[in-house]
Amino acid sequence: MSLLAEHVLLRHRDVPHIRDINVYTNHGGYDALRKALSDMRPEEVTDVVKAAGLRGRGGAGFPAGVKWSFIPAGVKPVYIVVNADESEPGTFKDREIIEANPHQMIEGIALCAYAVGAQAAYVYGRGEFKGPFVGLQQALDDAYEKGFLGRNILNSDFSFDIYTHLGAGAYICGEETALLESLEGKLGQPRNRPPFPAQVGLYNKPTVVNNVETLTNVPPIVLHGAQWYRQFGTDKSPGTKIFCLSGHVARPGNYELPLGAPLRHLIEECGGGVPGGRALKAILPAGASAPILPGPGWGTGDILDLSLDYESVQAAGSMLGSASFIVMDETVDMVWAASKMAHFFKHESCGKCSPCREGTYWVEDVYHRLRDGSGRPGDVDLLLNIADQMDGNCFCLLGEFSVCPVRSSIQHFRDEYEALVKG
Ligand SMILES: Cc1cc2nc3c(=O)[nH]c(=O)nc-3n(C[C@H](O)[C@H](O)[C@H](O)COP(=O)(O)O)c2cc1C
Repeated sequence: MSLLAEHVLLRHRDVPHIRDINVYTNHGGYDALRKALSDMRPEEVTDVVKAAGLRGRGGAGFPAGVKWSFIPAGVKPVYIVVNADESEPGTFKDREIIEANPHQMIEGIALCAYAVGAQAAYVYGRGEFKGPFVGLQQALDDAYEKGFLGRNILNSDFSFDIYTHLGAGAYICGEETALLESLEGKLGQPRNRPPFPAQVGLYNKPTVVNNVETLTNVPPIVLHGAQWYRQFGTDKSPGTKIFCLSGHVARPGNYELPLGAPLRHLIEECGGGVPGGRALKAILPAGASAPILPGPGWGTGDILDLSLDYESVQAAGSMLGSASFIVMDETVDMVWAASKMAHFFKHESCGKCSPCREGTYWVEDVYHRLRDGSGRPGDVDLLLNIADQMDGNCFCLLGEFSVCPVRSSIQHFRDEYEALVKG
């Protein structure tokens, strides 16, 4: 089923009950932290993460070690914020890590803290993660009790605390600066960048913001080294990645594969293919916030040959993002699908900037018209026009994300739109 002999991140699939701290430590858990505290200087931890080429798994794929090295020396305190907002439609990987393998994430946070000299970390979860966060708090309590967190960790000079915080369930609070605002108790709206959080972050102090999955990669990298990690994945996209597979597949779920694995393997071997012998019409590689890629009968070439790494998905016209693959079969009405995403973005727009606040509203309005039979000639071009006006003019990427399904569905399935206008 898997291209991996053993999971690197979803280790609970090989080691049952690894969420229990005793099982985790019996299987090498917290050895990386022990190694770092006894044998490595903080900058050596950053260096090995850099050499491993670990890229952020929250969406943008920015190299984690490089981000850590932006933390200015000598400014205290330094914070770490763990992005567990996981609000992208079709994304459910961070939740599985938190629920089933929380200590690997906690150990990764502690290693990051040691590397950048942080005193505290905040794990920010979406409001709906109340249940998973009860288990996470238990795991944190266990880690404190065993001396992996708190004062003088493992009898070293390093002291560090982790706190949890739940938001109220807003997509925009996954955007790192809106998350910081929310964590400070303010309205969850994005900040201007620059300055970036590494310089001016939580409470105006240097802050590393990393995704749950990103930090969960760190313990095996520190323990086994960069070369070991680079045996997985491609040169520019090293390591393994959790692909969230949903929609029209026989076996939806999370699948951990090396980056660069073929889409065919994910959909057919892992997911059991499209049920009922129906044709694959389209996929969304990154939930709602990246362009739709057409299936074999609708686009040129065979999308199933796509290599699942950051560069290849971009070259194919979309983005890997958080790797939440939503599969749509031939029965899907693409205007309906795009209208659902338009509704999502209108609902989630934070209202801070007018191109996004107004644009997402107008886009949904045109979709309503098209779908209730009162579409006007020119409506398809009007949608493209609104998308053009939003692109590059929104305060943050939410607005830019929102036009991806609009543009790409028109690009590949324009006949379905035109049929509605005529009808
Ligand atoms: C609208 C929007 C929503 C986002 N949602 C999430 C999210 O739910 N989880 C996440 O980790 N990153 C999310 N991001 C990306 C974060 O801003 C940030 O890049 C990420 O947390 C950095 O961590 P990484 O470098 O480990 O990927 C979102 C970005 C935008 C623009």
